[in-house]
Amino acid sequence: MKIVNKPFGLLPSGKTAYLHTISNSNGMEVSITNYGGIVTSINVPDGKGKTYDAVLGFDTLDEYLTDISYFGCIAGRYANRIANGHFTLNKKEYKLTINSAGHHLHGGVLGLSRQIWETEKFENNDEAGIKLSYVSKAGEEGYPGNLSVTVCYVLGQENALSIHYVAETDKATIINLTNHSYFNIGNPETTDILGQTLQINADSFVVAGKDLIPTGEIRKVDGTPFDFRKPDIIGKRINDPYEQIATAGGYDATFVLNSPGTLKGPSAVLCDDETGRMMEVYTTEPGLQFYTGNFLKGAKGKVGRIYSKYSGLCLEAQHFPDSPNHPNFPSTILLPDQQYSQTTIYKFSAAK
Ligand code: GLA
Repeated sequence: MKIVNKPFGLLPSGKTAYLHTISNSNGMEVSITNYGGIVTSINVPDGKGKTYDAVLGFDTLDEYLTDISYFGCIAGRYANRIANGHFTLNKKEYKLTINSAGHHLHGGVLGLSRQIWETEKFENNDEAGIKLSYVSKAGEEGYPGNLSVTVCYVLGQENALSIHYVAETDKATIINLTNHSYFNIGNPETTDILGQTLQINADSFVVAGKDLIPTGEIRKVDGTPFDFRKPDIIGKRINDPYEQIATAGGYDATFVLNSPGTLKGPSAVLCDDETGRMMEVYTTEPGLQFYTGNFLKGAKGKVGRIYSKYSGLCLEAQHFPDSPNHPNFPSTILLPDQQYSQTTIYKFSAAK
């Protein structure tokens, strides 16, 4: 196990961002910057020993500073949308920054994805990783409570990247953290993820209406293009007239996972036949946001690749969008005497 650190670039504030590259002896190498906790690359071998980068992103810090698609970052304090940036907690109304079509998205304009995090590294024979820490002050982007957050990225000898999130607050608040990596486990020459196969262990999904805001309804996947209980080709139903697919221009929905909290079996499995690579997602979270990069509009990414619609996909383990305004959704409230924690694992393998 090995970690190599190097400066990644300077922020306008004069702070330096670093890039930490963790590698194991089975050919996996993950790079993470302490700017936004962004995973900038995940190099993993296919079954024939050829190594490919499995995530979208940029070569330089400057490109991440102006990115609008949340490539690889830690999204929060509240990942995904809060309708009108408004919620009520303990009878008090809170107004969050509005940054997406009249709503609050991924923690606002200067959310966790736009901050420099303190870094500690750890390494032993079996695993190595970095622990990122950030204190979000009360009032930041409108959220109540001083929130201390740590996120550990850990690579072991198995080709799995584990992400452990912990947070504490000094006043009742809301929280929903996730990682926003865009995966493409195919050959880097492959232009999109439509031919890849996905399975999601979810019997239901969160119905979303205008602006992708949940209506409150949880619907069974039976007979809908959201039925991924058996492995299916992603592109097969992506142009389906089903309303929630048509309005989103592809998949952008929260799947209600059947067995959250256990980490025993994968909640999702992604496969690419050409490279034989596979990625399994394990999580403690109740939901999985499956997003096919519908808003990508031709950004120039790593090694000159152009990222457009369907170039990558996100499998974001999280709570449901807009939960503070839907009492029937699992709670996202964090109280001062509680600890928030979530674990998500992205595990890679390849057919020989
Ligand atoms: C999430 C959301 C999408 C979109 C992207 C960022 O995945 O579900 O609707 O906002 O983030 O572009």
